[in-house]
Amino acid sequence: MKKLFAVLILAAMPVLSFANTAGPELEKVDIDLSDKAALQDGARTFANYCMGCHSAKFQRYERVADDLGIPHDLMLSKLVFTGAKIGDHMNIGMQPADAKTWFGAAPPDLTLVARVRGTDWLYGYLKSFYEDPARPWGVNNKVFPNVGMPNVLVGLQGRQVVGCKQVQIVEGGKKQYDPLTGTPLTHEACDQLTVKEGTGTLNEAQFDEKVKNLVTFLAYSANPVKLQHQRIGTYVLLYLAFFFVFAYLLKREYWKDVH
Ligand code: HEC
Repeated sequence: MKKLFAVLILAAMPVLSFANTAGPELEKVDIDLSDKAALQDGARTFANYCMGCHSAKFQRYERVADDLGIPHDLMLSKLVFTGAKIGDHMNIGMQPADAKTWFGAAPPDLTLVARVRGTDWLYGYLKSFYEDPARPWGVNNKVFPNVGMPNVLVGLQGRQVVGCKQVQIVEGGKKQYDPLTGTPLTHEACDQLTVKEGTGTLNEAQFDEKVKNLVTFLAYSANPVKLQHQRIGTYVLLYLAFFFVFAYLLKREYWKDVH
């Protein structure tokens, strides 16, 4: 019995996800796959800013529209730029061989990228482009050094550079404040990412939100049945709870005369 119990507990444990050990420390991003507005915004950003180069070929427009609650005509007019039909896979016209010539590397299909890289990595990657004149596109990336991808979100985020700035001192995971005045204690740190003010259309919080929504969409895309699983899981639990009452009453009835 004990063994069976241990097996059940192990089976119930979520599959260990990819741990990313190399590279800079990644900020945790808290995504919510049930947030339809976030998913829709992410899908829009993906279609507008990413599908010029990246496909999501294991995904169909129709499925995305239905899962995210986007009417088919709206999906076709606002999110499909390739003349594709609603039932088509999310392919792109760019040829991998051409892309390799232009960028030095072919842009990979992104349907499953959230499973391969993890959401924290994606969030960090998309926010970590910075200007570097030594690179062919004039940008480099902290999370993916010497990446072949240009900074496609620069218009939203603004031009990011690496430089020195005042950052709050953190000790033992806690932000430090002056005990007398309560003002944050800072020190000058170099090698920091800073956005040049006024060069992007979104402020920092808005940009973070945009990227988070995009990552939420990519997480959904890598595992579209997860939404469904969560829904079915709730029904199963409700059913079991309901059934338990009858099973218990029945058991009591059967055993009534035994004692
Ligand atoms: C102009 C073309 C272009 C656009 C537009 C573009 N990318 Fe890329 N992307 C690339 C190229 C090229 C690479 C491969 C870089 C390399 O391997 O050095 C890449 C790589 C990536 C990777 C790394 C994949 C991996 O696991 O190695 C991710 C993630 C990514 N892009 C996400 C995006 C997202 C999200 C968008 C939209 C906001 C986007 N890209 C828009 C060209 C593009």
